[in-house]
Amino acid sequence: MKIQNVVDDIYRLAVNIEDENYLFEGIWPIPHGISINSYLIKGEKNVLIDLTQNIMDFPRAITEQLEGASLAVEDIDIIIINHMEPDHSGWLNEFCKKNTKGVIYCTKKAIPLLEAFGEVPPERAVAITDGMTLTAGDYELQFFDTPNIHWPETMMTYEKKRGILFSCDAFGSYGKVGNDTIFDDQLSQEKHKFFENEALRYYANIVATFSPFVLKGLSKLASLDIKTICPSHGIIWRDNPSVIINHYKRYAEYSKGPGEREVTLVWSSMYGNTKSMLNLIVQTLNKRQIPVHVFQAPGDDIGYILASAWKSAGLIFGMPTYEYKVFPPMSHVIEELLVKKVTNKKVFRYGSYGWVGGAQRDFEARIEKSGWDLLNFYEWQGAPTEADKQNMIQAVEAYCDELIKFTE
Ligand SMILES: Cc1cc2nc3c(=O)[nH]c(=O)nc-3n(C[C@H](O)[C@H](O)[C@H](O)COP(=O)(O)O)c2cc1C
Ligand SMILES: [Fe+2]
Ligand SMILES: [Fe+2]
Repeated sequence: MKIQNVVDDIYRLAVNIEDENYLFEGIWPIPHGISINSYLIKGEKNVLIDLTQNIMDFPRAITEQLEGASLAVEDIDIIIINHMEPDHSGWLNEFCKKNTKGVIYCTKKAIPLLEAFGEVPPERAVAITDGMTLTAGDYELQFFDTPNIHWPETMMTYEKKRGILFSCDAFGSYGKVGNDTIFDDQLSQEKHKFFENEALRYYANIVATFSPFVLKGLSKLASLDIKTICPSHGIIWRDNPSVIINHYKRYAEYSKGPGEREVTLVWSSMYGNTKSMLNLIVQTLNKRQIPVHVFQAPGDDIGYILASAWKSAGLIFGMPTYEYKVFPPMSHVIEELLVKKVTNKKVFRYGSYGWVGGAQRDFEARIEKSGWDLLNFYEWQGAPTEADKQNMIQAVEAYCDELIKFTE
């Protein structure tokens, strides 16, 4: 990638992870890649906002982009570390060995992490206070403590004169960014939608657990006149930053109230008996005009299931009994949803059993503290009979009635 001008003497320096097999955070598939963005303010004081990950040739790529602005690593006077996760700080150790004059600005909580992750002595850092302003030539940088978006030490940096928010992980998305399509207004409608969808998946995978902090962070930023959002992943929102701000608000609010009137249905089956009810359920939901997103466990990736479940007001689980318990691959799905604090859902479960069942009891025990409202369930022995199918339609119809009320 090449260095890109954002406005005046502010530049975006970025790399894309393009390896289709790379798992972000070691878990999440990124078949369409992800960008890691840093920002440079060139001037009386040269400021670098967020570093890059120390993988592949990323430090070299960012160094070359700096050279594109006629600067070397040694020329950076101020290093702003909004977030210590290694995708933005992996280069820190090497960077600080080369650059011995730069002063690091970060939160108080980040200082011990500088040492733990980058062997950078605390003397090199200044701990910001919430709302503090730092003048760098013509640029006025204000720091905001925004804990847990995404780690406890996270902050954001706001350039006051130009209304630019360097938001780090917040407002970020998966998806590699092209050289000539770094701004929202440079995207086709289709590509715009792609980044919106990838922002939801990124949110559900990375940030969702911390949604109450996102809401706090958003209200802290509410009084700012944000003209441009420069996140550390994905595109820059300069034409209409309210698009991504409103998405984030909505995503965060799903942790407190209903999601959209949609169902995420995850099914699993060993011998096809549970599977044989799938079409019937989908047809019943279709008839009630409730969109349904269908996933299989195992098979479909948990990162995608999470994004869909986060947004849907309804969850349906289809699973047979396995050794008196929930079918293990489904256990994993439920566990992940609970770890990510997927909550406030209307739930229906169905499945086949062989002798005395057990999955239903296990399922109920697992979701006891989830904030999921198990509206009803339907189980049958072996292969479903015609009567089972009729009962299933009735059960799903009753479920739809409640889901519609919930999302009114
Ligand atoms: C490994 C294994 C363990 C099972 N454990 C139980 C059990 O604990 N309780 C039960 O009622 N049925 C049990 N069954 C029977 C299945 O639940 C039953 O065959 C069911 O119809 C499978 O549904 P499916 O065709 O959707 O996989 C088990 C089956 C298998 C293969
Ligand atoms: Fe992060
Ligand atoms: Fe990140």
